[in-house]
Amino acid sequence: MAIIENSKLTVVGAGSVGSSVAYAALIRGSARHVALYDIATEKVEAEVLDLAHGTQFTGSSDITGGSDLSVVEGSHVVVITAGAKQRPGQTRMELADVNAQIIRTMMPQLLDAAPNAVFVIVTNPCDVLTVIAQQATGLPPERIFASGTVLDTSRLRWQLAQRAGVSTSSVHAHIVGEHGDTEFPLWSNASIGTVPILDWSSPPHPPLTLEELGSIAVDVRDAAYKVIQGKGATNYAIGLSSARIVEAILRDEHAVMPVSTVLRDFHGIDGIALSVPSIVSATGAVPVRNTPFSEDELTLLRRSADALAAAVAELR
Ligand code: LAC
Repeated sequence: MAIIENSKLTVVGAGSVGSSVAYAALIRGSARHVALYDIATEKVEAEVLDLAHGTQFTGSSDITGGSDLSVVEGSHVVVITAGAKQRPGQTRMELADVNAQIIRTMMPQLLDAAPNAVFVIVTNPCDVLTVIAQQATGLPPERIFASGTVLDTSRLRWQLAQRAGVSTSSVHAHIVGEHGDTEFPLWSNASIGTVPILDWSSPPHPPLTLEELGSIAVDVRDAAYKVIQGKGATNYAIGLSSARIVEAILRDEHAVMPVSTVLRDFHGIDGIALSVPSIVSATGAVPVRNTPFSEDELTLLRRSADALAAAVAELR
């Protein structure tokens, strides 16, 4: 798809996730200008060079960066990946204290450098840090949100597509709630093509059972732990997920994606950020308020909100 002329994405943090976001954005042509910012001068300059060396083989996006905040100036979208990352066996929530401090310090500086940008929080725990970032900047919730369960939803769609023998793009299912241990699938309105998920059958693929769906949900919830155990971090899929969110913003797509925004009186949830299907456009992200939830799903949504509220309260 065409690159939006003069569009600028800045990725904050040149670690494995931030560099993968920049790499994915270059390959996908998510923005005309991609910048990488990190306080570690040698590291960020090396990542920028390594990315730039491959731009003969990418589209017309260019890559710049460095450790001076001026790198961020003029950004239309700023993706924040800076902070401590999960170690094997560690939960995302265990990163809250250290990464909240980083976010509190960094956000006012980034807003000053890019006052009109839309901000996307990837650093974990991204839902908790979105509340902190929104409070630290005073931005409207629409303009500062988290990648949330976009990645988890991609994991779910991939597993279901493999099991059902269809294209991932034909699987219509969402993970919602916390990007973490209390996330859950919205099975009540999941479908493959136009067929409700439990009615799907396509020989030789047998119909899906409730037990299988339960097992797939657990695999998706725990996917990051498995990848981190094996390679020390996750980076490719979150890089691609983030680049896709950037595109929806820069192209003003009004695409429905399960990003995480600070909710206002959403089924009684207020002041907590978690993922529900939301409309992502040039102005940011707005939750789809009439998303259908079964009673069981509303219970799970409130359980997720309670876990996140407790984590935010501990930070104060
Ligand atoms: C994961 C990280 C991005 O789920 O939280 O891979």
